[in-house]
Amino acid sequence: MAQKTVRCLVTAGPTQEYFDPVRFISNPSSGKMGWHIAKAAREIGWETTLILGPSALSDPDGVKTVRVVSAQDMLEESEKAFEKCDILIMAAAVCDVRPKLKVGHKVKKGEIPLTVELERTPDILLTLSKKKKEQILIGFAAETRNLVEYAKEKLEQKNLDAIVANIVGGKSSGFGSDSNEIVLIMRSGEIIDFNPAEKKTLASHLIKFVSTKFGLEK
Ligand code: C5P
Repeated sequence: MAQKTVRCLVTAGPTQEYFDPVRFISNPSSGKMGWHIAKAAREIGWETTLILGPSALSDPDGVKTVRVVSAQDMLEESEKAFEKCDILIMAAAVCDVRPKLKVGHKVKKGEIPLTVELERTPDILLTLSKKKKEQILIGFAAETRNLVEYAKEKLEQKNLDAIVANIVGGKSSGFGSDSNEIVLIMRSGEIIDFNPAEKKTLASHLIKFVSTKFGLEK
């Protein structure tokens, strides 16, 4: 009997949190890792949706791509798609804070307050993990130190099935770079070390590994 198509939801890129129509807080994520993951998921035959924060990247072929700006937008779009997905891979570098007040017009230079009150953005993965039924949840942990320890904490906090941990801040991995160095930590504690490689190659290895590990092959 033919198996049903796997439905995969991927988030990628940064989010931008605006103070006024021309100024925002964000981070340097390019969206490349998640973009390649969405493409690799499509290539193994999964029906894939990519929710992409502001990014110069085009829509990957065959992937339903939804473009968003803020963490709130990403949350709303992710919630819409989550119920119908079998696997969520949350690779987005969601901006952790946003200005408490946002004004609808450009603030004159001399009137910009030099102290700005911030508030936390919604934690998308945590919100979705509370609605989890059969879905497989995979998060990302970008760290500059204590990689495995911090990643394991996040896996527990956010009730994930696995977490992809990568060191950021170096020249050859992480934000903006074409290559990356990742380890996959399973809920069981098993740690899979991937050889450093281009994000495209890593994305393909990761998807194939996850597909086998969670029994999602067609
Ligand atoms: O807690 P931390 O931001 O390091 O966790 C990283 C994981 O949580 C990533 O998968 C990221 O996409 C997700 N995240 C989220 N919503 C936030 C912050 C992070 O879904 N506001």
